[in-house]
Amino acid sequence: MRTLTIDTVQHVGKEVTLQGWVNARRDHGKIMFLDLRDRTGVVQMVGVKVEARIEDVVEVVGLVKKRPDAMVNDKIPTGTVEIEIKTLTVLSKSQELPLPIDTDGYDINEEVRLKYRYLDLRRPRMQRNIRLRSRFVDLVRQYLFNEGFTEIETPMLTKSTPEGSRDFLVPSRMQPGKFYALPQSPQQYKQLLMAAGFERYFQIARCIRDEDPRADRGFEHTQVDIEMSFVEREDVMKLDEGLITSVVEALGYTIKTKPFPRYTYADAMKQFGADKFDLRSEEDKKNGILAFAWVVDFPFFEKDKEGGWTFTHNPFSAPKPEHKEWLLKKEHIGDILTTQYDLVCNGYEVGGGSIRSHEPDVLSSVFAVMGYTEKQITEQFGHMLTAFGYGVPPHGGLAHGVERLLMTLLGEPYLREVVAFPMTSGGMVSVMDAPSTVAPEQLVELGISVTSSESVHIRGGEAVYARIAEVLTKAGVTFEPYEHEAVFTSEDAAKIRNTPLSEGAKALLLYADDKPIMVTVPGDRKVDMKAFKTAYGVKDLRMATPEEVETVTGVRIGAVPPFGHIFSIPLYMDTHLADESFISFNAGLHTKSMRVKQSDYERVATPIIGEFSKLNIRNG
Ligand code: AMO
Repeated sequence: MRTLTIDTVQHVGKEVTLQGWVNARRDHGKIMFLDLRDRTGVVQMVGVKVEARIEDVVEVVGLVKKRPDAMVNDKIPTGTVEIEIKTLTVLSKSQELPLPIDTDGYDINEEVRLKYRYLDLRRPRMQRNIRLRSRFVDLVRQYLFNEGFTEIETPMLTKSTPEGSRDFLVPSRMQPGKFYALPQSPQQYKQLLMAAGFERYFQIARCIRDEDPRADRGFEHTQVDIEMSFVEREDVMKLDEGLITSVVEALGYTIKTKPFPRYTYADAMKQFGADKFDLRSEEDKKNGILAFAWVVDFPFFEKDKEGGWTFTHNPFSAPKPEHKEWLLKKEHIGDILTTQYDLVCNGYEVGGGSIRSHEPDVLSSVFAVMGYTEKQITEQFGHMLTAFGYGVPPHGGLAHGVERLLMTLLGEPYLREVVAFPMTSGGMVSVMDAPSTVAPEQLVELGISVTSSESVHIRGGEAVYARIAEVLTKAGVTFEPYEHEAVFTSEDAAKIRNTPLSEGAKALLLYADDKPIMVTVPGDRKVDMKAFKTAYGVKDLRMATPEEVETVTGVRIGAVPPFGHIFSIPLYMDTHLADESFISFNAGLHTKSMRVKQSDYERVATPIIGEFSKLNIRNG
């Protein structure tokens, strides 16, 4: 039923139904001109007394009319027609936009643009960029499939590897205390796929690195990631040059020099003082020309801050064949050259790769040069060395930064201009408020306690009181607050609050096999240590010292509230307390208490309930 704006020119004299956004509105007294925008462009509409505002989403039924010659707009593909509005229905109203979207947007504050990214993306420049990105990836896929490649996905939750940047870590719930790392690149997996016999692999791979964001780098980027078997350096470079040339020319761009010129690292440093450089003339820059060049013959190692050796690019690279003996003998380390090749374009490094060490002893030598012990090598790279012991073809590959390539194609100065939802320079994700704190229960489940920021903020009785009030209120729980003279025992607390001793929650900090836990029992009972140990398979159980109580909870002994998650520790509750209809407790201070319904308490504090108390028999 719906006609796209771009197709209106084929329907002159006919009635069409259009849907889209009101892009512009010009009031000419009685008659009014509206531009309607959809994914294919805009078309002009005319009507009388039209009730629609800019950025409203509308449905229009109208007649397509040829414009008189004098009125033709040759700047848009639909400039020969206009739509005479018969009916207009507003499908969704738009408030006034918080930022203009009809400009290129460069001068708008970054935070505003990213907060309202879904609006910012409506601007024509961003629509062009994101759509070009999609076409780019499509062309890459087509080319590589034609060349016999297989697209294979590799894990996002993986192991920390030495790829030169800091890892983003993900805690494991099933194995508390252990962490996955998000992949800095699929480097090792793609090499294992060569061992697996796929021979030609590629992936549009998301890569995640915790390095300070800059104009041309972010926490997340996407790579066109390639690996090939039975190849030498020239084979990979040739395949890749074919890919890049074909794709960028299909997108309508002109390459300055073909085949791409080559520089050795030494020559590049001499000539440009850097290993990435811009070969364009001023004229080329104006015409959007792309100047690609290869850089080869990089040193394999360089000195690190501590004076030891580290790799310059990729530890899995092979040395140049003529330097293999040096590497095996660990001689002339600073003179060893790697098979690494980098592709630069218009001043950016847009890709890089190498032939890999497929011989286990060569790969081990790289790590040995960097000071790894045999044991460390086995621990960290044993899986690679083992895999290479079962017949692995010689292989090599490379990866392109998708954002970097698009930046050069589009002449965009910032990575975020080619990413739909980029981060701010401060590392906040756009639109959503991330990173954010998580519910204390989530941390408990993961066996994690935060030693800085959040839990530090809630140190001190008043802060703990406020936090409990907040947690309860957020959960829709009403509580009865009490202020009273300072009390230090369950008995005194019950008396001053005038609440039964049996509903008073005595929250105790214990160490179970050296891990802090919270145990809560009724005021008239005490923890049966033996019963607890048996119930939960604990070997060693002891009461915390008053100092430990303060360190873990930030409050004084006697004022600890029965909420484990506020302190990121697990909470156990005795059944006798769970049987009460109300729970009363000192809420972080000796002078302040609260009383809540037991069911509400259980819902918010999520204790593990068990039977582990005995009656507190006192003298008399
Ligand atoms: P490398 O680390 O050189 O190699 O990355 C390949 C290409 O990815 C782009 N790139 C980035 N783009 C944006 N933000 C970042 N933080 C970022 N980091 C890298 C660059 C770079 O050239 N596994 C190897 C490749 C291989 O040897 O096959 C690797 O990841 O354009």
